[in-house]
Amino acid sequence: MSLSAEFQAWMTRELAEVEACLDAWVQADAPAGLGEVMRYGVLDGGKRLRALLVLAAAQAVHGQRDAALRAAASVELIHAYSLVHDDMPCMDNDVLRRGKPTVHVQFGEAQAMLAGDAMQALAFEVLTPDVTEVPAALQATLCRLLSRAAGQAGMAGGQAIDLASVGQDLNEATLRDMHRRKTGALLQASVLMGAACGDADAPAWQALSDYGAAVGLAFQVVDDILDVTQGSDTLGKTAGKDAHHGKPTYVSLLGLDGARDEADALLAQALAALERSQLADTTSLRALAERVVSRDN
Ligand code: IPE
Ligand code: IPE
Ligand code: MG
Ligand code: MG
Ligand code: MG
Repeated sequence: MSLSAEFQAWMTRELAEVEACLDAWVQADAPAGLGEVMRYGVLDGGKRLRALLVLAAAQAVHGQRDAALRAAASVELIHAYSLVHDDMPCMDNDVLRRGKPTVHVQFGEAQAMLAGDAMQALAFEVLTPDVTEVPAALQATLCRLLSRAAGQAGMAGGQAIDLASVGQDLNEATLRDMHRRKTGALLQASVLMGAACGDADAPAWQALSDYGAAVGLAFQVVDDILDVTQGSDTLGKTAGKDAHHGKPTYVSLLGLDGARDEADALLAQALAALERSQLADTTSLRALAERVVSRDN
């Protein structure tokens, strides 16, 4: 099998398993219809890139499978919650997500807010099963990595900067800081959560951390590019909305070519970090980094 066919087969297998876990763990029977709202926001859509990063990193360090699957589902829950809230009228006011009406359009703002809240809590419930399943110390490490990436130092803080920056011209350092927090932190945490499931030594851990930081920032640079270059049908979300809302992005700062150069440079950094890791099996991590930069949705 060629390398890319092998990666495709790996991805298909892993995606099916992540989907099955999420389907089992996001239960429909939450009170007053909340389960239906949560399932609408989490299931049947999304590239599951963060979950794949967890599982690829875990594979590279021979990580514990049960813990890695829980970590993969938990980052997707945090991510899905961030999207539900990001789309609400008080934030980006978007009506289309993953090719469907956004959660607040479908179910109302109160249910969208509560579904996001409940997804966030569920992420940490998923990470803390009985200690016979995942050792307590690993549970604590995974919770620490995820909570830091999701909170004020990461996603939520980045989203606050994003909203405060509307209509402003940010310099590159400030824009980079915003992107690292709002998007990069959770992707980097995905890689490190996978790494935590196994036996990475300190140099490998640092290399994976550098890889995650580069891929994480590249991801949002490419998101900024796709907002300009793709249509809503391909994206499954409204195209062209960054300029419409006056959001500072890599495209508004550097132009399309400059943003593409930045994404390519970050891919090179990510691949160099993988080389430094000295880990034997980084095929999937490499392919995922390439996919982040070459994707069209
Ligand atoms: C979109 O993330 C939001 C950003 C952080 C830029 P994704 O493009 O990973 O969204 P899904 O999960 O595939 O829908
Ligand atoms: C979202 O950034 C980052 C999140 C933390 C959800 P965007 O606002 O650019 O994401 P999209 O383009 O709506 O998916
Ligand atoms: Mg936003
Ligand atoms: Mg948005
Ligand atoms: Mg965007």
